[in-house]
This record gives sequence, structure tokens and C-alpha cells, in this order.
Amino acid sequence: MLASSSRTALRQAAAKQFTVKTGVRAVSAWSQVPQGPPDAILGITEAYKADSNPEKINLGVGAYRDDKGKPFVLPSVKQAEKKIVESNLDKEYAGITGVPAFTKAALQLAYGPDSAPVKEDRVVITQTISGTGALRIGGAFLERFYPNAKTIYIPNPSWANHNAVFKDSGLKVEKYRYYNKDTIGLDFEGMVADIKAMPKGSIVLLHACAHNPTGVDPTEQQWKDIANAVKEGDHFPFFDMAYQGFASGNTDKDAFALRHFIKEGLRPVLAQSFAKNMGLYGERVGAFSVVCESAEEKKRVDSQVKILVRPLYSNPPIHGARIASEILNDSSLNKQWLGEVKDMADRIITMRALLKENLEKLGSKHDWSHITSQIGMFAYTGLKPEQMEALAKEHSVYATKDGRISVAGITTGNVKRLAEAIYKVTG
Ligand SMILES: Cc1ncc(COP(=O)(O)O)c(C=O)c1O
Repeated sequence: MLASSSRTALRQAAAKQFTVKTGVRAVSAWSQVPQGPPDAILGITEAYKADSNPEKINLGVGAYRDDKGKPFVLPSVKQAEKKIVESNLDKEYAGITGVPAFTKAALQLAYGPDSAPVKEDRVVITQTISGTGALRIGGAFLERFYPNAKTIYIPNPSWANHNAVFKDSGLKVEKYRYYNKDTIGLDFEGMVADIKAMPKGSIVLLHACAHNPTGVDPTEQQWKDIANAVKEGDHFPFFDMAYQGFASGNTDKDAFALRHFIKEGLRPVLAQSFAKNMGLYGERVGAFSVVCESAEEKKRVDSQVKILVRPLYSNPPIHGARIASEILNDSSLNKQWLGEVKDMADRIITMRALLKENLEKLGSKHDWSHITSQIGMFAYTGLKPEQMEALAKEHSVYATKDGRISVAGITTGNVKRLAEAIYKVTG
């Protein structure tokens, strides 16, 4: 990411060159465009693809795989899709804020059936281009309207895209302590101390569940203390909920933090994604919502969200939202889906246990309990960059250098080989 001063310098250099070469443009307009670094995750996929080892393992990408290592389309999604095709709907534009039946149901899913702000009709919601789009609209909304300093504090570490999304939204990004590399767990004291030390009224980004990349979540008691610290500092909570249901297998349990903050009288904003919990990755289904003080405030905020969205992409795509809407609104499909989410979460939990068990069976002297105490798609193994490199080079096991592995890429078929590889590189 270029700092704005270097971006300005690049623009000036390009403009100067353009003026000198008047008339025919002798030099390409893009001759000053610098080569950007490759995306870390995509780079891993490329290295994996290029490896000819038939037993290679890709633990880089954050997408669910079945026990055969194959992408998984949820049966409930297939049924919903069939229903949609059979109902022969037209392809007219949705409104600026998307498919209303979807957004209404997304609110219920996130905030719960007893949510006071939802019942009092004071939550603004707009369909977005998945979770990333929700974060981006949220960033842009805060940049335009948040009355205090436009700094957002994200955990250290955080999902790699948070920094770029919020910087590109015009916010300043700072970090708060989150992960303790010595315990491979939560640095709870550090986190609370940092929240308390932030300037009054700061924006705090919180992963609602299944923290990416660490898989380390606060306990319910710790969330209560975090809510108190946020309240004390008069801070503004921004929840990113990309894995509702995917962490514990229960969508209500995974929404605990968000709902607790609301019970405490806080009024957060929320980015929701249906990429993981419905397996709708490429359909790009998400939502951004703002809890307001009153229905009257909601109207004003809603008008401004529309003004933000309209010049960006006018209105969101309809197909994925219709699928999610069917699943959320049809009670039998909904029941089926909740079972499928639980199956995915359970498979991941089982793979964590199997990996730990295999490492122990091999006689590894390390404590691997963090593999099973962490939750969600990712495990933060505690492996060092050079060990991750050895995993790739010597064992054809591919994952990010920070030691994060996607547990979704582990299967009953590859877990033994994976444990052996990890055992060999960790000694
Ligand atoms: C923490 C977190 N937030 C947001 C997202 C956004 O995902 P998407 O845009 O695919 O919904 C992800 C995806 O990996 C994530 O891990």
C-alpha cells in the first residue's frame, strides 16, 4: 500500500511526463506505474498448483473443503437455487440496498429474534458485495460521518485485508494488542489495556467470532469485560462477522459478542458475510448494518448509505442474495442449513483434534493444545516463517508464512502426512 505522499509524487511525475510529450503520446500513460507486490494468498495457490507432488496439501485459502478436499456446495444452497430457477423470476435491478427479503432476514440472523433495535425498527441495513464490501461501505460511512477522529483500531494481527480496506476508505488504521505469541493465545490484558488507552471515542474493529488469522476468540466473560472497556472509553464498536455459525456450529452462540454489546446499550455497526457459513464465496453475499438511536435517525442514516452506494456500484447483485433469502426465510430449508453449518464446523473441530492427536502420537514434545482450543477456519500453529518455508519446500504443504493454516484443507486422508511434516520441521 502506497502512502498518500508517494501516491501524490507518482501522480505528479506521470502528469509532468504527459505534459512534456504533447501531441502524440510517445510514452505509455502507465509507464510510471510501479509493480505491486503479489497477493500473499494467491501466491501460495500458484506455488501449490506448480508443485507436481500428488500428495501436496494446500492450507492457504480460507474456503471450506469436504473430507475429500473438494469445494463444497451446501445441499440447502442447491435446493434454494433450484427453487429460484423454477420460480422463473425476472432479472430486474434490486434497489440500492439490495433484496429486501434477504436484508430483513440477515438482520434477524445477526441480531437475533429478540433484538430491541430490530424490533424498534432502528437498524439500517444494506446488502453488500460480501463481507469485504460491507467493511468498505462501513469504512466509507464512518469516514464521511463519524464525528470523532477517523482512526480505526484493528487487532494485531488481523485479517490481512482490513488494513487496506479501511485505508482505502480514508480512515487511519492503528492496531491494538490481541495475540500473545508466547501462549499462542489471547493477550487479553494487553487488549483491554490498549482499548482503555485509545483516545476517547475511537473506532474499534472487533472480529465477532472465529478470529482470522489466529482462531483465538475471547471467552464470553472476556467479551463482557471488552464491552465495558469500549463503553468506558466511549468508543465505537465495528463488528466484522464473517463466520457466524462457522465457529461453534451455532449461529446464536457465534453472535454472542455482537448481541451482548447491544444489550449493554452500545450501538455498533456490523459487516456480515455469507461466504463461509453458506459457502456462497463467489456469489458475494453480505450486508452492512448500522444500529441507530431511533427510527427517525435510521431514516437519515439510510438515506446517506444509499448516497454512498449509488455511485460505487449502483445496486448489488441479486442471485446470491435470493439464495440466502430462501435459506433464511423458508423454515425447513433454514433448519437444514443450520444442520449443514454445524456439520462444517464439526468437521473442522474433528480435524483439529486429529491433527493434535497425530502430532502427539509421533512423539512431538511441543504443546499442541492451542490447535484444539482455537476455533473457526484457521489455526495459528505458532510455526516460524522458516518452518513454514520448509513445510512447502520439503513436504509440499502450503500455507501463509505467519504460521496460519486453514483447517478446512485438512482431511482424514492427509492429516497423518501433515502431522509428520509438521513434526519434522518443528523437531
Ligand atoms: C475476518 C474476515 N472478514 C471479512 C472477510 C471477507 O470475506 P468476503 O468478502 O469473502 O465475504 C473475511 C474473509 O476471509 C475474513 O476472514
